[in-house]
Amino acid sequence: MKTVIYPGSFDPFTNGHLDLVTRAEKLFDRVIVGVAINSGKSPMFSLEERKELIEKSCAHLDHVEVVTIKGLLVDAVEEYQANALLRGLRAFSDFEYELQMALMNRNLRRGCETIFMTPTLKNSFVSSSLVKEIAKYGGDLENYVPAPVLEAIRNRK
Ligand code: PNS
Repeated sequence: MKTVIYPGSFDPFTNGHLDLVTRAEKLFDRVIVGVAINSGKSPMFSLEERKELIEKSCAHLDHVEVVTIKGLLVDAVEEYQANALLRGLRAFSDFEYELQMALMNRNLRRGCETIFMTPTLKNSFVSSSLVKEIAKYGGDLENYVPAPVLEAIRNRK
């Protein structure tokens, strides 16, 4: 049984994230989406709201669970007996930060591996921060976020 944790702040969960979860589900027996705290960001939705939106967005996927992670990722890896962490790499600019995190996590917990997956071309430019900016100015987000997230953003205004 191979378990992977896909951590992120997911504020909000986008079609790019959903695409990654959908493809990861074909490679792993169990995909745990871990809604974690990024201390450098001030979120639009609370951890619990984000968890609920991801659960709704992934309701059609059988091997996906959503959890909140309030501490270190390496502790969640231990708790859920995960085989690896999964992160998306959209562009070269993501690489430096991702490499640093992957190396730090393996230093914090020996054997903690990070696997990277690339997005489908269609989603390669979609990011939570751009989604938030478009939301702020009332732009159309229909092509970029799953329906439950779209509804939550519309209700938030
Ligand atoms: O989607 P993001 O904001 O790029 O995700 C970053 C996140 C939440 C994965 C990162 O901030 C994180 O790992 N937070 C949990 C605390 C932790 O383990 N920090 C050490 C990372 S080396």
